[in-house]
Amino acid sequence: MTLAIPASSTTRKIILDTDPGSDDAMALMLALNSPELDVRAVTVVPGNVTAKQGLENALRMVSLANRCDIPVAAGAQHPLFQKLITAEFWHGKNGLANIELPPSKCKVDPRYGPDLIIEMVHAAPHEITLVPVGPLTNIALAVERDPSIVPLVKEVILMGGSITGGNSTAAAEANIYNDPEAAQIVFQAGWPLTMVGLDVGDKTLLSSKYLDQIGQTHGPVNDFIYQVAHYLIDLSAQFGFNGTPMYDPLAVGVAIDATLVKAPPMHVEVETRGEFTRGETVANRHGAVERNVLHGDRYMVEGLDKVEPNAKVCTEVDADRFLQLFVSRIRGK
Ligand code: RIB
Ligand code: CA
Repeated sequence: MTLAIPASSTTRKIILDTDPGSDDAMALMLALNSPELDVRAVTVVPGNVTAKQGLENALRMVSLANRCDIPVAAGAQHPLFQKLITAEFWHGKNGLANIELPPSKCKVDPRYGPDLIIEMVHAAPHEITLVPVGPLTNIALAVERDPSIVPLVKEVILMGGSITGGNSTAAAEANIYNDPEAAQIVFQAGWPLTMVGLDVGDKTLLSSKYLDQIGQTHGPVNDFIYQVAHYLIDLSAQFGFNGTPMYDPLAVGVAIDATLVKAPPMHVEVETRGEFTRGETVANRHGAVERNVLHGDRYMVEGLDKVEPNAKVCTEVDADRFLQLFVSRIRGK
């Protein structure tokens, strides 16, 4: 019987918005087994799998963890404007590495995900951290439905984006690519935002060295995560990686311990119109743009105009320290 970790005043209250998703599964189980975090709700967004499949997966996972006390709510059924792009190619037919968990003992929360976010933020002003690890559709809808939540959210720590090239396309990371308009709303909202992108996820590879440590112990969560990670490591090996990138779990890791990463402030815009760059997170590393002034038939550069940062962009990570933390939280659960 897994007892809920009692929340204390020093724990960080989070809402995990997820498209589960195999690395989402590792992120959720890390969050549920970390005393630093108090998971107040799980909201489901379509991405890796459909909204329906994602909701089923989320319910089965909180049931496996014996956490039916946590509200699990459905959210958007599709991106704001474009068709959904699902990724069973990477995550398995059911989105959970083809692992069949037992039917859930938990019941879905009847509230609409974006409304649940709004309700919880107003109920605990300046205390809730949003941790989106899928497309940003639900977060954008929450802002659109009630912009007054922006100054009341403690922080947004999201898995998404990249300033060193994409994984879905040459320019775009999958979560952003699956709903660029939603991402632009979230990046421009004006709240404290940390972007945990491919730049650090691709440096944080769970290899068989760490998997073997999880394989030495047992428990329902331990064994589930072992199977998920084993599937992902095998898949990654087919594409030449020595381990599986811990994209979503690392975002949870940053919520646990921000010292795991270096995250300089930058101004980030999300491209929504580029023929080759739609979904790119375009970061201004210098914090300024040239001022071009028209003189006759040409412009002349006449100075620099400051560009205010709107995000902390993770550029470096202590990968081994995070991976050891992850293994320590999962072993034996
Ligand atoms: O690009 C990686 C992201 O896309 C992760 O969140 C993964 O789960 C997928 O949603
Ligand atoms: Ca995800």
